[in-house]
Amino acid sequence: MKIITILLLCCFCFSVFSQHNSVNDKLVIAHRGASGYLPEHSMAAKAMAYAMGADYIEQDVVMSKDDQLLILHDHYLDRVTNVAEVYPNKKRSDGRYYAIDFTLAEIQSLLMTEGFVVKNGKQEAIYPNRFPLWKSKFTVHTLADEIELIQGLNKSTGKQVGIYPEIKSPAFHLQQGKDISLAVLNELKRFGYDNLDDKIFVQSFDPTELKRIKQHLMPKLNMELKLVQLIAMTSWQETLVYHNGTSTPYNYDWMLETNAMEKIATYANGIGPWKPMLINTKMNQQKPKSNGLLEAAHQAGLVVHPYTFRADINRIPKYAQDFDELLHIYYYDIGVDGIFTDFPDKAVQFLQKNKDKRH
Ligand code: G3P
Ligand code: CA
Repeated sequence: MKIITILLLCCFCFSVFSQHNSVNDKLVIAHRGASGYLPEHSMAAKAMAYAMGADYIEQDVVMSKDDQLLILHDHYLDRVTNVAEVYPNKKRSDGRYYAIDFTLAEIQSLLMTEGFVVKNGKQEAIYPNRFPLWKSKFTVHTLADEIELIQGLNKSTGKQVGIYPEIKSPAFHLQQGKDISLAVLNELKRFGYDNLDDKIFVQSFDPTELKRIKQHLMPKLNMELKLVQLIAMTSWQETLVYHNGTSTPYNYDWMLETNAMEKIATYANGIGPWKPMLINTKMNQQKPKSNGLLEAAHQAGLVVHPYTFRADINRIPKYAQDFDELLHIYYYDIGVDGIFTDFPDKAVQFLQKNKDKRH
């Protein structure tokens, strides 16, 4: 916890009260924490995002062998930990190390770092200009650990920062015998999140699971939370459908039709599209315009929170001169309600500068 203390002291010096985005109704969602600066989903990245003034902090949630809820983007451990070195014999036949095959104690014995890939036997950081690989000491934590951090900071600062948990690969977990959605909802209820006014959005890429949450699980648990349908490209194979022992990719194409928004509004309160899904991409490098999906979503009563806004070199689309222009296009020209960003400080500062603007 020492690194969190240091970070908090540093960040409080420049931002905690003056930079908070409370003057603007557009949201800043810290994607995996302040992941542009510290390893994604580390406690330090969450504390830094909090101090930078994010409105919501995101948690991706997967399950361990002993049914613990872990904060990890993938249901694999090998992209962000030293699992391959510590447990070389625990990989599956596809060469991956699955979080669900490890206990919490085993996972917490691992070191966590920035995301990397292995090329020619050598580890390469996915974002070379971010926090260096394997420096300092980070470990995987649980959903409860993170909620306690955010609720604790809400108490000590008097702010009300929200949480934005994503239930990762629910069909995979169910196929492995684990009802991750039920476990997440029970945990959220235990921490006091149980009604629509609470500062929480629950997100998933899996529409079948979101409908089950809306229609069965939340009524059974006497709770009602805001749900967000994440939208993927079908080619990413983000959601698998299991049938008779085989899996096929879920087809998302229908969600990109404007008439899909009314269907989504029957079970969700918002959409989380990949940001190019909202714009007219045929215009090449010209400033893009809305393709109508956002207006259809708003018409259906859905909020729109696209992902992911990154300020790294080569991550700003050519149609924007810089990160601020990219933010302007989405927040004000297109008119989104919030964004997922790895750089919450930049989005908070942008909204502060533009607080009198309306869309
Ligand atoms: O959940 C919003 C955004 O995080 C979706 O992408 O893959 O980073 O979870 P991913
Ligand atoms: Ca996510």
